[in-house]
Amino acid sequence: MIIHLDYQIDKEHYKKMFFDRYDTGGYHKEGDVVLEYWYKVFNIEKLVMPITKDLGIEDLYTKPRFSYQFPNSTLPEHIDQDKIVGINLNLMPNAPSITIDNKSYEYENCLVDVGSKVHKVNADKNPRLVLKYAIRSNWNEMYKRLDKRGLIDHNKTIQCNPYYMKYESILSDNDKKFVRNQGSIVKVAV
Ligand SMILES: [Fe+2]
Repeated sequence: MIIHLDYQIDKEHYKKMFFDRYDTGGYHKEGDVVLEYWYKVFNIEKLVMPITKDLGIEDLYTKPRFSYQFPNSTLPEHIDQDKIVGINLNLMPNAPSITIDNKSYEYENCLVDVGSKVHKVNADKNPRLVLKYAIRSNWNEMYKRLDKRGLIDHNKTIQCNPYYMKYESILSDNDKKFVRNQGSIVKVAV
């Protein structure tokens, strides 16, 4: 499930922040395998606090990071660890896309159920740079919080997910093999 957010982020400001701190980051690692197309900068909690407060999630464990995926690279199907829910905020001129259960969605800013649903990022000629929050909270709680603040773009969401109000976040037994710490992503990536 993807929920579009009605939120504006100063892309230039936060994009510059990422590139200014590029040297502090590193490639994503899965065990011994380094994914040399997926680069992250962590330890930005203080720097992005204005955004965190706007979203009303400063009391949660959210682990914000800049997540940069190189052009023409595919991030294979997986489910994120710990049943997290994600907030992705696009920092590039072009809207990135995410494929969930074989359906692709373009977004600017979204809440996305990456801890329960199989998803991938298909190759694109443009790089992808998002400010991502990996939130240890449950889907309904996050939805309610964002809705209370008027941050849910209901019109845009209903167009791609007509039944989003009835959505239940469930990690099915069949999909558990896709959870990342079980190495599923490595098998595809090497
Ligand atoms: Fe993911």
